[in-house]
Amino acid sequence: MSAITVRVPAKVNLQLAVGPLREDGYHDLVNVFHAVSLFDEVTAAEPFDVNPSAAAPLGVRVEGDLAGEVPVSDDNLAVRAARALADRTGRSYRADLLIRKSIPVAGGMAGGSADAAAALVACNELWGLGLPREDLMEIAADIGSDVPFALLGGTAVGTGRGERLAPLETAGVFHWVFALADGGLSTPRVYGECDRLREEAGVAAPTPAVSEALLAALREGDVRALGQALSNDLQPAALALRPSLANTLAAGREHGALGALVSGSGPTCAFLAESAERAHELAALIKDVDGCRSVVTASGPVPGATVAG
Ligand code: C5P
Repeated sequence: MSAITVRVPAKVNLQLAVGPLREDGYHDLVNVFHAVSLFDEVTAAEPFDVNPSAAAPLGVRVEGDLAGEVPVSDDNLAVRAARALADRTGRSYRADLLIRKSIPVAGGMAGGSADAAAALVACNELWGLGLPREDLMEIAADIGSDVPFALLGGTAVGTGRGERLAPLETAGVFHWVFALADGGLSTPRVYGECDRLREEAGVAAPTPAVSEALLAALREGDVRALGQALSNDLQPAALALRPSLANTLAAGREHGALGALVSGSGPTCAFLAESAERAHELAALIKDVDGCRSVVTASGPVPGATVAG
């Protein structure tokens, strides 16, 4: 095979319970991840250059409306993932990576993590390594807390810093609207603001625990109960850093969303709708709200990173 394309979904957090800051700079979490049908595609191809020894072993290009916002340096998460995979084998491998971006950049939907997961699957295949998913999961966890979930997909609860995953049983399909904002929010900054707000209020960080009401709603496919059970401990911090998000959330609630919350560290806002039709209606109603760059509809759960075609 000279090129492999992998499709990988975005995530929304149905519950994000943030515990105390740990010594390693991370927070203990209970993180209920849900993969939705908003996809990036990553193609890993054998490079064509005339002088292979002179070229960087891993190249990356990004396409799509959001391409300009993605770093194409060695910091790109897909490049880091491919390099980590090559390092694991102890041999030097080469690939040109092409990322077709639809997932918002720095939007709280784990777009960078998704690209890393897709690069792992694509390069594993391109280089004929045949590493099992468990090995890819381990490498994924070293790249970032959300990368293992992008491999797994579906709906799952993450503990530790979010990388220890247990799949959850769900019934039915849930319909979502996502309001994308202009510009991203830095994840470390939002976690830092969450700590600061807690300190200022004199509130100790609680030990995170999974919501039983949320688990029941997912098991039963009860969309109304799910709407009620959605929660995100990072939301006050995201709103403090980006006050206009309060308008976006209020507009969604006013127009009948069953649940409205900031996705992960934001600034994307997620709205749960009763049906696909209601999701489209809701999207049309919130697209002109101040601070909202664009809206997309999607459904979940969907599978994790998968070789396309
Ligand atoms: O794991 P990842 O590199 O995606 O995390 C980005 C940043 O988010 C971390 O550097 C940290 O500041 C914050 N984070 C955290 N606790 C977690 C996950 C992420 O504080 N459980």
